[in-house]
Amino acid sequence: MAIPDEAVAQVRAATDLVSLAGEHVALRRQGRRWVGLCPFHAEKTPSFTVNAEEGLYYCFGCQAAGDAISFVRAVEHLDFVEAVERLAERTGIAIHHEDAGGGRERKRRERLLAAVSAAVSWYHERLLHHPDGGPARDYLRSRGYDASTVRAFSLGWAPDDWDALARALEVPGDVLAEAGLGFVNRLGRQQDAFRARVLFPIFDAGGRPVAFGGRVLPAGDTGGGAGGPKYKNSPETPIYSKRRTLYGLNWAKGDVVESGEAIVCEGYTDVIALFGIGLRRAVATCGTALGEDHFQTLRRFAQRVVLAYDADSAGQTAADRVYEWERRHEVDVAVANLPSGTDPAEMARTDPDALRAAVADARPFLAFRLDRVLADADLRNVEGRARAAEAALTVVAEHPSDLVRDQYVMSVAGRCRIGPDRLRARLHELRRERARAATVTGRRGRPAGSEQTAARGVGEGAGDDAGGVLRGSPDRPTTDPRGPAMEALRLAVHRPEEVADRLEAALFSDPVQRAAFESLASSTTLHEAITQAEPAAAALLERVAVQDTDASADEIVRRLVEAAAVHAVAVLESDPRLNDARFPEVARLHTWLCHKIQESREPSTAVEAVNGLLPWLVESAREDA
Ligand code: UTP
Ligand code: MN
Repeated sequence: MAIPDEAVAQVRAATDLVSLAGEHVALRRQGRRWVGLCPFHAEKTPSFTVNAEEGLYYCFGCQAAGDAISFVRAVEHLDFVEAVERLAERTGIAIHHEDAGGGRERKRRERLLAAVSAAVSWYHERLLHHPDGGPARDYLRSRGYDASTVRAFSLGWAPDDWDALARALEVPGDVLAEAGLGFVNRLGRQQDAFRARVLFPIFDAGGRPVAFGGRVLPAGDTGGGAGGPKYKNSPETPIYSKRRTLYGLNWAKGDVVESGEAIVCEGYTDVIALFGIGLRRAVATCGTALGEDHFQTLRRFAQRVVLAYDADSAGQTAADRVYEWERRHEVDVAVANLPSGTDPAEMARTDPDALRAAVADARPFLAFRLDRVLADADLRNVEGRARAAEAALTVVAEHPSDLVRDQYVMSVAGRCRIGPDRLRARLHELRRERARAATVTGRRGRPAGSEQTAARGVGEGAGDDAGGVLRGSPDRPTTDPRGPAMEALRLAVHRPEEVADRLEAALFSDPVQRAAFESLASSTTLHEAITQAEPAAAALLERVAVQDTDASADEIVRRLVEAAAVHAVAVLESDPRLNDARFPEVARLHTWLCHKIQESREPSTAVEAVNGLLPWLVESAREDA
């Protein structure tokens, strides 16, 4: 490892896991713990739990567990060194590397991030102050952008020049190329990628600039410049993945988490416009269609996604995919009904109240589709209503849930004045036709690739060098979670002073629990105990780390001793010597144990019985070993 252990420990200790995790999921305090929706699997009831004091998290749903470092690794797709460095940066700790060879990939990413960051500043400055930014400033003003908007979104201006950025930045050509900022032309000359364009810097969810979208000025404003497509966007780079990135998420995150809802639109200017009318939970895809990877990101923040596209684009979103996203990511997808041919940016200017209302009244995807079908229909005569019903049922048939389908059948029945049973019969036929068509064309189910995508978030990092970032499920407790052994472990973790010299490894009959206890007993910190424990015991400790107990130490010790004694009696009773007159001491021992167990159950004699049993249990475990 390239980072000294002390530095890793220092970074870990300095990181506030609640605020770190809180950047990705909404956490609520619950007793001494913080809980929220797990960022590593889809769920509707929170099972992701953080122990702030120890800096550990555990998910009761998917068993993801770890500390700040593994958390950053998993959510940001970083390697161990990168994750430590990210946290070091966050906490202001300087790290000195032990060797120069490691982390080449990380250094490369860092160089690219630094280059894009420098470019954002330079372009922004150019827009704000340089004479050649005049037309761009005029254009933005004409769109209603004031200085504070320009600053808030770090907008920039790329002048109409060959290599103004390259000359200004003093960044090597290969870095410019890799960051998507420049290229070398056929004559061997360095050129800037963006020219005569207003720039919308694109940030990752953590707020670091990774790319640009560049818009041409409307014809006549460019000073005879570039032309080309309306938007030119950064290419995919090692720091920028279009499939994954949502423009605006870095600013919207807080509101999205708070409201549980993200508004997804298509353009950079739509996001800015929605922010402008107070809807600060808007994000946009970056020149790609909304897809699986975007949901992978979104579901960490929101339970509901509102599509704010113009009605035609929204209607064209493939229904199969929408329902699949809803199912797989446990989100609800709704559609804000914007008039055809308009987008949020335009509506925010012409009729902001209507835009706000459209977002507030966003309807479930199926309801939206149905409304469109029925709105186009002529419901005044029998034939028209029959045709409308047929078209409506075709839309309804796409939904995977029969409960949902049936509710829409009722609504179609009412609007088309056809009996629901007739419609159900027809719907049944349509579903069968769909199934048949799907088997023929192989359209059914999801594409093979998307399966892998979904698995990636959870599986990544498991079992590699950092030592179990996310453990899989085989470590579920095999024993009663409210049993005395688990309670004893909780006490040993959370209130060690109360059980300090009253617990013994011999009291734990389950080998994993015993290993966990032994690891605790031989470490000075919980983190050390987890690190040195065998995997199953470490996983158990990670879980226990986020579990509280209000159990009484006296009672737990008593129950644990009693349970161990009961276990010892069972062992004795399977011992053939018990009924053999040649071994009277075995029978005596059996009698003594049974007697002590009885006493341990009586409040007046319990303490004494426990004090008598404990040394014997320890001794006999030693003999067995
Ligand atoms: P729009 O054409 O709707 O642009 O494309 P816009 O965002 O509304 O911009 P204004 O308001 O006209 O200035 C929506 C999105 O599609 C991508 C961009 O991401 C844009 O924000 N796009 C569009 C491109 O990538 N290239 C293009 O040529 C056009
Ligand atoms: Mn648009």
